[in-house]
Amino acid sequence: MRSNRWIRNTRRTPFAVSPLACLTALLAFGIACQPEPPSPPELEGEGEGGSAWLSGTVDERFQAVGSQMGGFSQAMLEVGHRYEDLYWAIQDGNWAYAEYQLEKIGDAVERGIIRRPGRAESAESLFLDAPLPEMMDAVHSGDEDRIRAQFEAFTLSCNQCHVVEEMEFVVIGPPEARRTSVQPEGAER
Ligand code: HEC
Repeated sequence: MRSNRWIRNTRRTPFAVSPLACLTALLAFGIACQPEPPSPPELEGEGEGGSAWLSGTVDERFQAVGSQMGGFSQAMLEVGHRYEDLYWAIQDGNWAYAEYQLEKIGDAVERGIIRRPGRAESAESLFLDAPLPEMMDAVHSGDEDRIRAQFEAFTLSCNQCHVVEEMEFVVIGPPEARRTSVQPEGAER
């Protein structure tokens, strides 16, 4: 089963105000215990092209970060890169690295779905439900012929989804040149 491993629980309560304390404060000093929305911190370089470019309300700043993260194409850039490394891992017989890349490809597609739920149906039915786990099974078998055959089916599933998602002009195939800096096993360190 897939899990949202990458989502960390970032919910933190810096301090808790008990209802009784609120009531006491309210009665004693007329202080309302409505939590104040945090105001944007004063950051160095704001508006000067520095790194502190986020401004506006908390919602506006989250929106800005979300938009910077991009949508499905950002996920696909990562998937494309990892697909290449997966290919070279298979050429090298480096099954541990192949498994690693497959896991990361799955994670990237799932993150893409969170950002663009409209892609979920194709991503799941054409990729996550079968081709990805089947490729993983093949890698686990360590049977080179089976792995190579499965890689073709795996590639086909990328392209099938591109057709269904009206991205038929993005045609995936094994890379011609090694761009990864990850070396074959046994290479000099
Ligand atoms: C949901 C079905 C789906 C699956 C499965 C899928 N893709 Fe994509 N792919 C897309 C869509 C949609 C885009 C265009 C994204 C956009 O413009 O928002 C895309 C774009 C791409 C791009 C171009 C990215 C860019 O912006 O430069 C690459 C590379 C790519 N996919 C690689 C792959 C590879 C490799 C696989 C298989 C391992 C794969 N894709 C599987 C839907 C899919």
